Amino acid sequence: MKYYVRALICIAVLLGIICTVKDYYDTKTVNPNDIGFEINNNVQPWNLILINKTNEMTDNLLPDLATTENGEKIAQNVYLHLEELFLAAEEAGFSPELTSGYRSRNQQEDILDDRINEYRELGYSKREATSLTNSYAARPGYSEHETGLAADINSADGDSRKLYKWLKDNAYRYGFILRYPKGKEDITGIEYEPWHYRYVGTEAAEYIYHNDMTLEEYLMR
Ligand code: DAL
Ligand code: ZN
Repeated sequence: MKYYVRALICIAVLLGIICTVKDYYDTKTVNPNDIGFEINNNVQPWNLILINKTNEMTDNLLPDLATTENGEKIAQNVYLHLEELFLAAEEAGFSPELTSGYRSRNQQEDILDDRINEYRELGYSKREATSLTNSYAARPGYSEHETGLAADINSADGDSRKLYKWLKDNAYRYGFILRYPKGKEDITGIEYEPWHYRYVGTEAAEYIYHNDMTLEEYLMR
């Protein structure tokens, strides 16, 4: 084979490798929106730790876990408060279900990879798929679900809309806040999620609810 043909093949193979590595790197390190607020979680009370696009979950923050009736896990410190919230919701006529509580880093990674692949199958580039996914699913290491303090709550009866409305106006009484409110996407870095609640304790939850705040705003005030 002529030397320049070999050289061309080598260049093509090299370019292929570079593109593959770059794609992989883009997927894992896509720049999150920089909301520019860092907190020292090591000195925060456990119920007020902040995990978001600029504050990473670390192993020393891992909670003791309790298992709920449907096999989901939640921080032990939060378990009874979640039960109280669910009981109140049931008394109001709803059928709340914890659809996602604690997630390990690997579980979060699987969720993220699945979502990215779904977008890829729809024809989006890896970069686009990753960026779309990051608007509502946190990167591994940056998900509040890894703290065990977050609870995705949906209705076991199908349509969750009325339950979401009830939760929005009542969850604070039991120490939970709507973590990703509508209109606050630029602060939380995450799209509106009416199902995602976060335990912060009743004192903080009441303040956040009555002042229409996010956890970020509460901690920055
Ligand atoms: N959906 C939330 C942001 C998460 O993935 O943790
Ligand atoms: Zn969630």
